[in-house]
Amino acid sequence: SAAEKGGHDYFMLKEIEEQPEALTNTLRGHFSGGGVVLDEQRISEQDFRDINKVFVVACGTAYHSGLLAKYAIEHWCRIPVEVELASEFRYRDPVLGRDTLVVAISQSGETADTLEAVRHARTQHARVLAISNTNGSQIPRESDAVLYTHAGPEIGVAATKTFLAQIAANYLVGLALAQARGTKYADELEHEFSELAAMPEAVRSVLDTVPRVRDLATRMCEAKAVLFLGRHVGYPVALEGALKLKELAYMHAEGFAAGELKHGPIALIEDGLPVVVQMPSVKGNSHLHAKLVSNIREIQARGARTIVIAEEGDEVVRPFADELVEIPAVPTLLQPLVATVPLQVLAAEIARHRGFDVDKPRNLAKSVTVE
Ligand code: G6P
Repeated sequence: SAAEKGGHDYFMLKEIEEQPEALTNTLRGHFSGGGVVLDEQRISEQDFRDINKVFVVACGTAYHSGLLAKYAIEHWCRIPVEVELASEFRYRDPVLGRDTLVVAISQSGETADTLEAVRHARTQHARVLAISNTNGSQIPRESDAVLYTHAGPEIGVAATKTFLAQIAANYLVGLALAQARGTKYADELEHEFSELAAMPEAVRSVLDTVPRVRDLATRMCEAKAVLFLGRHVGYPVALEGALKLKELAYMHAEGFAAGELKHGPIALIEDGLPVVVQMPSVKGNSHLHAKLVSNIREIQARGARTIVIAEEGDEVVRPFADELVEIPAVPTLLQPLVATVPLQVLAAEIARHRGFDVDKPRNLAKSVTVE
């Protein structure tokens, strides 16, 4: 009923609006006494400290959250991190050992590809840490450590609030590792956590863009294809924006690292093609900001219609944006938490205009328990 959907036409919009709460609930109780607390921890302090390699394995949207984990964990902990699709990891004989931490991210905790990756990692004596939204599901049950996201049940098949919660959980894992390894002092941990704790408010304010994005969607629903560009943490955001559009609106959509544009994708640009560009933070990522502006000029000169997601007050990019969606300025690593929100709304609203069932896209299942 409409009441169950919080007055919306579909659950996904309600779930998009629940994201501030999903973040608050995921962070609650996980930072106390100056440190990060996991839900279950059967890896000894010494073993956790000795971790010298991290693999993140997941599928679909959870995989995109994993791509973001790499930026934070490598930056904070100075441990190499590889992020891999669970279905690929399992079958390529990855190099694993007692000093390897495999972080398995799965909303449902039941995805067969991810579960098999976990089982494989364990046969190789790697330690496994699960991030899941489902208490007592199979992946957490077979792991050595667990951090639960508390996004609440997600009805829409396409993940939204669980994605933001997974990003927050990944950052908590990064801080836990930094703490164990001593690569961050207590006051630095506290500072990083306080920045994370400010994100529910930032996400609440980005929800103000919903009417603007709904309007934009009415003008994009006839497009043949949509490209998404981003760099650094904006790259996984671009991939997630494209995935959402495929899943919901059945449109051809692709996400690219903006630096790769010149190595191929620029050949796709033609008159009127909508290209969504995720702008880096003006201050936090200034060296990349200028590069993205020049990318936008290149594609605009070739006829692309530029849809720019940029920080409030980003005056430099404004003249090159055919459409501009403004998001609050937040620390660089946390930008995906606000930047993804307009892309979720865009995909859902384009799908609705095209007459599709936003909550139950064709051919997809909420949790895929076959390999
Ligand atoms: C399915 C869903 C996706 C989801 C993926 C991984 O394919 O349609 O939205 O991202 O599974 O799900 P998980 O439960 O492992 O996070």
